[in-house]
Order: sequence, then C-alpha cells, then structure tokens
Amino acid sequence: MPISTIEWSGRKIKLIDQTKLPHRLQFLCCKDLETLWKAIKRLKVRGAPALGIAACLGVVLGVGNSKAKDYREFKIDLDKVIDYLSSSRPTAVNLFWGLERMRKVACVNSDKPIPKLKKILLNEALRVIQEDKSLCRQMARFGSRLIKDGDRILTICNAGALATADYGTALGLIYRAKEEGKKVKVYVSETRPLLQGSRLTTWELKREKIDVTLLCDDMAAELMRRQRIDKVIVGADRIAANGDTANKIGTYNLAALAKFHKLPFYCCAPFSSFDLSLNDANKIPIEFRDGKEVVEIFGRRIAPWGIKVYNPAFDITPNELITAIVTDKGIIRPPYKKNIRKIFSVKCKV
Ligand code: MRU
Repeated sequence: MPISTIEWSGRKIKLIDQTKLPHRLQFLCCKDLETLWKAIKRLKVRGAPALGIAACLGVVLGVGNSKAKDYREFKIDLDKVIDYLSSSRPTAVNLFWGLERMRKVACVNSDKPIPKLKKILLNEALRVIQEDKSLCRQMARFGSRLIKDGDRILTICNAGALATADYGTALGLIYRAKEEGKKVKVYVSETRPLLQGSRLTTWELKREKIDVTLLCDDMAAELMRRQRIDKVIVGADRIAANGDTANKIGTYNLAALAKFHKLPFYCCAPFSSFDLSLNDANKIPIEFRDGKEVVEIFGRRIAPWGIKVYNPAFDITPNELITAIVTDKGIIRPPYKKNIRKIFSVKCKV
C-alpha cells in the first residue's frame, strides 16, 4: 500500500512534509491557504500530480470560510483563491489543471446554495484523488511492458508515491514490474540542488524493497558508457502538443546521454500533465528559484559570497530525444504531434 502523500482530513489538508525526508516522516496540517501556498512554494508538497491535488484541496480550504451569500459573491472569493494558488509554482500544468477543474465545477453548480456548492467542491477534490490513484495504476499497467526482467533503470527527481496519490508515474512502472515478478535495479540521480532523487526516491524505493543505487548527477554518462544502464524512465511537469517535455532540471542531460548511448528514454505522465494549448515547449513557463538553493547545502555555504547563480528548477527535453511517452491512455510513440492529438482527442476535455 503506497504512503498517503496528501489527503483531506476534517477541515484541513494533511500532507507529508517532504523537506524533512529522509530524516523524518513528518506530516504537516494546512489549516489555511497561506500555509498550503508556502508548502507548495517550499516543496513540502511537490511533484506534478500531487500539485494538481493540492490545488483542488486548496480551493476547498480557501473557500471554506467564504461568507458569500450568493454565487456572485462566492465567485469573487473563489477567483481570489485560484489566483493566489496559481502564483505558487508555474511549471507543473497539473496545478492549473486542478484549479480550472474546480472553477468549472463551481460554475456548473452556480445555482446551488453556497453550503451545498462547498460540499460539491470538496467531493470534486476527493474525486481527483481517487482518479489519480487509478491513473497511476493505468500508466503502470501500460508502461511495465517496457520493462524487462533484469533491467537496470536510471531515473531522476521523484516521480513516485510522494509525487502522486498512489504509487507514482515513472516509479509506478517499476513497482508494477516488480509485482509482475521482474527483477529490476534502479539507479537514482541525486537531483541537485534540492536532492529529490537522493532524499525522496531512494527513501521510497528502499521502503518498497527495490534494489536502488544512488549516484551524483554528473555520474550518469560514465555509468552509461560502462553499459550499466538499459533505459531511462522519468516523469513530467508539462508536455506540449508536440511531445516536448518539461521535467526536473537534469532530465535533458539524461535524454541527450541516452540518445548518444542508444538507450531508450521514456517519459511517464497522466493526461493532466499535457498542455495541448502549447504547440511546443517554447512557451512552457520555467520556474527559476532562489540562488540560495545552489550556494547552500542544508544551511552551509558552499560557494563564495556574492557569486552569481543560475537556478532553473526544470529543463526541456525536445521530443526527438523521447523514445515513448507512457500515459494513462496508452503508450505514445512518434510522430508525437499526430499521436498525442489522437490519444487525447476525447479525454483532454475535463
Ligand atoms: O520540483 P519538483 O520536485 O516538484 O519536481 C518534480 C518533478 O520534476 C517530477 O519529475 C515531475 O513532477 C513528475 S512527478 C510524477
């Protein structure tokens, strides 16, 4: 049973504070919107699908105290909540997808009394959690076919249970392969600067008794040259209509290395990570974070004072480096533009 990363608990959102891992499994209760916003910003809750869930639950939390007497007043409060949450992190489209889904549900039910409308929004958020669970299982079912017994798989960041409501996207494929009796070995890139690979993915895989080995981000090329990797599997924060993919910084390096070493590079994400309004990755908003994350490690300075820092949280992997994209609707192969449109022609309308 995967760990519950984020849930609704009474009148609050209960989530694993991922900044405390791997030292402590500690939960954070968000009783107000500002606490949730900070939790998102500081990556206490993170990973694209989990951010979609946080957005939906955040709307419930945010409008919970609304004193609106009619829908017109309620809509003003709702829009404020949505705008506020939209400003937390820009790249994972799931967050915006979740907010828009909640906005639409409110709109469709605008004739209902406000207490009833609040209840409807809560039920919608809970539905999103349930849906995310089945999306993970569907992706795993499709994607585990790509994994052979004995495979040595490289991944980056955390695309597992900690990033979803169930057992993850990229890591879900690995969990499923294990359930099918395949023996796999997973290499995890540490994922500087915030170390989601070393802090979270190794913790999660070790807990699930998967053979896991940690490496620094600059060791992947050598590992591939020594023929110790069979494939790379990663998650995604936003996929454009042509298959260009934004994911954790360092993903592009791995995709380029995989191409050079003739290894398959797979990306795994649910439909809510696709942004079909964008033709390609050029307009994907990339989050730039505080340089402090690069010049300090756990509060200790590792670079001279006053040094300039470059700190994008995500990079773009061009579609030509991606062997296939695993989704809840099936596996998409090139030509992506045509095949993405085909597979999502119905499902993408929320
Ligand atoms: O900055 P993070 O930790 O939120 O970045 C997360 C990633 O890049 C994941 O790979 C992505 O969200 C997919 S999670 C299933």
